[in-house]
Amino acid sequence: MIDSAGSFDPAAPVLVDGFGRTHTDLRISVTDRCNLRCTYCMPLDAVFKPRDELLSYEEIARVARVAAGLGIRSIRITGGEPLVRHGVEALVRQLAEIPGVEDLSLTTNGLLLEEQASALRSAGLHRLNVSLDALEPEVFERIARRQGLDRVLAGLAAAKTAGFRSIRINAVSIRGLTEGEIVPLALFCRREGFHLRFIEFMPLDGESSWADGQVLSGREVREILTQHVGPLAPATRTDDGQPAVDYEYVDDATAAGVGFIDPVTQPFCDRCDRLRLTADGQFRNCLFSTTEWDARQVLRTGGSDDEIARLLHDCVRAKRAAHGIGTASFERPTRAMYQIGG
Ligand code: GTP
Ligand code: 5AD
Ligand code: SF4
Repeated sequence: MIDSAGSFDPAAPVLVDGFGRTHTDLRISVTDRCNLRCTYCMPLDAVFKPRDELLSYEEIARVARVAAGLGIRSIRITGGEPLVRHGVEALVRQLAEIPGVEDLSLTTNGLLLEEQASALRSAGLHRLNVSLDALEPEVFERIARRQGLDRVLAGLAAAKTAGFRSIRINAVSIRGLTEGEIVPLALFCRREGFHLRFIEFMPLDGESSWADGQVLSGREVREILTQHVGPLAPATRTDDGQPAVDYEYVDDATAAGVGFIDPVTQPFCDRCDRLRLTADGQFRNCLFSTTEWDARQVLRTGGSDDEIARLLHDCVRAKRAAHGIGTASFERPTRAMYQIGG
């Protein structure tokens, strides 16, 4: 923030960018590794960062404390797959104790959830988002390029028992691949009480083979649901901070609803409140950011909390208005989703 004398104040308690967007949400990736190889996220021959380049849990918690002092209220742990990193519940415990953090969540592919759900809940994790794109094993394996559907379903059952504030299912939609999964996923989630969100495929895949023809839009998915599951109406209860637009089933407003995250056809950048910290300690102001701010270097050269705060302010001030997918000026980031954090 620039004060009236025109000088930069690293301790200003809010992170506001040049377009007036206040940032209250920090997404922290704890690893680039994963036990699946989803086509939309990672190449088959992914090369991972050496462990000493990843921030330790103590380093992450320090950054999170500084960020909370600047108005971050919501933290999401991501990956790669966060549950493949040893002892992630220890990080959850540290983050849950930070004053100001009101919402602590984690996004997982669910493979290791059966073993870890209860420990994560006890450590203070509030919410869980689980990626599940298909219920047909063959389609699951075509996307994930590994097996694991049974383990995801077992993980979801364990998560239900553990008693999280909410469990959401994320399903990426890909034209020519996932159309047949839409109705089974919706019926499964309605039966089990999970909130389902369909996500448009973004150009962040590991093999750079994304093409706009593969984007199955949220609108098309909604039409399929309306025809085969039941009519949907915009939900009355919505949360401004989330990218999803929620719908309810008209025939049963008490049933878990369906959300649509449509970053390609309906960009929500104008209400973006998100920042990211990669597993190797780089701040990013956007999934499609082409610049990074090196927090690891500050942490490992004896930098102060004020220096971390200054870096975050710099990162926020440089944020662009929108990702620009589909425009002539769009530049694909050099890092894929698994290296950035979902
Ligand atoms: P809640 O609404 O708090 O549950 O979180 P979320 O939707 O941010 O969580 P999640 O990590 O499950 O996000 C789902 C997916 O939405 C991500 O994996 C991305 O594919 C997409 N997404 C999330 N945040 C952004 C964002 O800021 N920009 C864009 N373009 N896509 C996002
Ligand atoms: N497009 C859209 N969503 C993606 N995810 C990963 N890669 C992509 C992509 N290219 C999402 C998946 C998963 C989360 C970790 O990231 O939905 O739930
Ligand atoms: Fe925010 Fe970038 Fe996502 Fe747009 S694309 S909502 S600016 S993170």
